[in-house]
Amino acid sequence: MASTASAVIPAAPDDANALAPTVWPAGAVRDDAGRIVVGGVDATTLAERYGTPLYVLDEQVVRDRAERTRVAFETAARSIGSDATVYYAGKAFLSGAIVRWVTEAGLRVDVCTGGELAVALAAGAPPERIGFHGNNKSIAEIERAVEVGLGSIVLDSEAEIERVAEAAARAGRVQAVRLRVNSGVHASTHEFLATAHEDQKFGVTLDRAVELGARIRAHASLEFLGLHCHIGSQIFDSAGFAESAERLLAAHAALSAVAPVPELNLGGGFGIAYTESDDPTPIERIADGIATAIEAACHAHGVPVPRLAFEPGRTIVGPAGITLYTVGTIKPVPIEGAWRHYVSVDGGMSDNLRTALYGADYTVRIASRVSTAEPALVRVVGKHCESGDVVVDTGYLPHDVQPGDLVAVAATGAYCQPLSNNYNHVPRPPVVAVRDGEARVIVRGETIEDLLARDAGLEASARPAPTTAKSASEGTTE
Ligand code: LLP
Repeated sequence: MASTASAVIPAAPDDANALAPTVWPAGAVRDDAGRIVVGGVDATTLAERYGTPLYVLDEQVVRDRAERTRVAFETAARSIGSDATVYYAGKAFLSGAIVRWVTEAGLRVDVCTGGELAVALAAGAPPERIGFHGNNKSIAEIERAVEVGLGSIVLDSEAEIERVAEAAARAGRVQAVRLRVNSGVHASTHEFLATAHEDQKFGVTLDRAVELGARIRAHASLEFLGLHCHIGSQIFDSAGFAESAERLLAAHAALSAVAPVPELNLGGGFGIAYTESDDPTPIERIADGIATAIEAACHAHGVPVPRLAFEPGRTIVGPAGITLYTVGTIKPVPIEGAWRHYVSVDGGMSDNLRTALYGADYTVRIASRVSTAEPALVRVVGKHCESGDVVVDTGYLPHDVQPGDLVAVAATGAYCQPLSNNYNHVPRPPVVAVRDGEARVIVRGETIEDLLARDAGLEASARPAPTTAKSASEGTTE
């Protein structure tokens, strides 16, 4: 994982109140009272209205980033005489509201399970603009996808070629498909690793792409769109994508010798800044770098430049989100001549698993006020019964941080709510969208009653009906 916590403690910032524009949602400011304001709504008001922990998503930032990403890839593709299709990777964060926002920004939607497909369809995404991934789709999921007329299914294995072909034949349909190929390139942040075979579960090996492409074409119930790969996530530049595209284009060219291959899908993986030291290349330059490599490789193989497809998730929604917590306890611990302050908040690894799972770095600030106190080294930890329950491994907060303070963690819009869980029976927080000074719940928070209601081992009398939830009644739900 890219932003791993380092053993070296970074120097204290000049100002532990500052909101670095690369890290915080665009337009985030502090008001006259020192409160962080996102989407025109201040953090204190949000916490009072919806409680903490709270996921806050700036709707306009999501819409702008979706638009900007689509335009970047379309512009780059057009500069090499082609076009681009951009899918929003719903795994980064999926709800009815975000499906509408990205759809209105001209993106398609990429899903990877029957559950994600159900959300996208229920939100009104046109089936022909949905792509379906996954290395182990069930027959029921495949049948559902075929039945609703999904735009494309990514075939992840030899077995899936037959499963999707049969499901499409049974339904009397021709299903458009891509073949996921493991290009042997694995990338994260600044570096990529290129091997002959990558040791992971996804996709077929590159040396079988031509044979399996022909196998797909032999099925009358399948339409072969082209090859697909996804080389990793939180990648800061175009080099790994370019290397992977070059490798894929050799197989693409061999398949093109038999019949035209309309498309090449390079997946997602574009990185964002979690801390000030993260410096991802702007998406326009990444798109240009990829297009330049593709144009050269197509020229070398003597094939026309195919339509390009991409599946960004994190870069669209990650920087648009923050999480608000209330500080409960503070414990100073001496470390190598300094002090580390354990700041315990009312959430933790149930609402942000990424630090425990990947050693991800984050940035924390007091959200309810500014302070002139010296920055103190902090580790923001949760309320779970586990010492690895860390939200921000290494950060700085003003020395006078105290119980009751509201703190905000930046860049939590991607892969936090989707990875949220009920460890220790902690209910999952709501997601609130903010825009133009208005806030509304877009995903209701869970209550203890929700958790009890699923426990079939409880007496019926102790098992309340799932609540219509206090949080859902506050603010307008979409
Ligand atoms: N397409 C495919 C086939 C993928 O597997 C993924 C992510 C994406 C697109 C979107 O990637 P993005 O643009 O969001 O990086 N839970 C991890 C990230 C796992 C990504 C899995 N696949 C995290 O929290 O960092």
